[in-house]
Amino acid sequence: LCERVLRYRGKMLRPTLLLLTAEACGRLTDPHLTLAAVVEMVHVATLVHDDVLDEAAARRKQPTINATDGNNTAVLLGDYLISHAFHLCSSLDDQYASRAIGATTNVVCEGELMQVHHRGDTELSEADYLEIIRRKTAALTGVCCALGSRYAGESVVAVAAWERFGMDLGIAFQIVDDILDCTATEDQMGKTLGRDLDLGEPTLPVIHALAQAEPVIRQKLIAVLSNGRAAPRERVRNWLDATDSISYAYRMAAQYVASARKHLDCVPLSPARESLAAVTDFILARRR
Ligand code: IPE
Ligand code: IPE
Ligand code: MG
Ligand code: MG
Repeated sequence: LCERVLRYRGKMLRPTLLLLTAEACGRLTDPHLTLAAVVEMVHVATLVHDDVLDEAAARRKQPTINATDGNNTAVLLGDYLISHAFHLCSSLDDQYASRAIGATTNVVCEGELMQVHHRGDTELSEADYLEIIRRKTAALTGVCCALGSRYAGESVVAVAAWERFGMDLGIAFQIVDDILDCTATEDQMGKTLGRDLDLGEPTLPVIHALAQAEPVIRQKLIAVLSNGRAAPRERVRNWLDATDSISYAYRMAAQYVASARKHLDCVPLSPARESLAAVTDFILARRR
């Protein structure tokens, strides 16, 4: 099962953030390499569990574990991966990373629980949506940058600024992921799309459309979110276009990226800083 999970690598965003942050802070050490593996393992574990929650059929261009081996196996495999991640993390000399990652996985679980709780909630506010994605996605990208800087010897204040940088990027990343869920193809993304709508979980473009659409379209969108069946993606896309909701969501993601760029402007110039700037561009430009 582990071989299957590893056969197709993802984008490696979290280890990339951790290692580039360390380099941008001027010191890449052995603990950084261990932690880069730990955060990717935590991420993969959350994907295995997320695919159970979302009843998804494909991930990283392959069938999900839940699709081929069932939910019991997928839940246990996710537990196994996260247990391995913490075991590896505990091999470091100090407890800082174990504490930070433990606190983060608590928050990620809270985010996923909040999202499940709000299934079918067509009144979900933008603020609640942002709170969910802050927890389920941005907490982990934030801790990557916190760990990268902390283990490079940065001050408490600097580590907090790096964590905000990682969180801004995580929020932008999830907003764009939710946009691509409505606009991209499964071939491009390598994973099942449209499950948010199917399961009645409004994401940013949909929240915007619900607020802006004319009453008839609004009622149709509410019906799609409430009926518990596969959503008609093409029709939904047309409704989102009519209210310019995709552009609205991109503009919101761009604001978080701009905030992250402000942080980078204060970091000494280096190839790693340039690479981090390229990562921020990629988050908005990506199509997969
Ligand atoms: C997918 O993350 C889950 C989200 C937080 C949107 P990625 O898009 O980083 O997944 P991989 O690691 O590249 O497969
Ligand atoms: C990803 O969430 C899982 C976590 C952030 C823990 P989503 O359900 O939004 O992402 P995909 O579309 O399945 O990758
Ligand atoms: Mg999912
Ligand atoms: Mg999900």
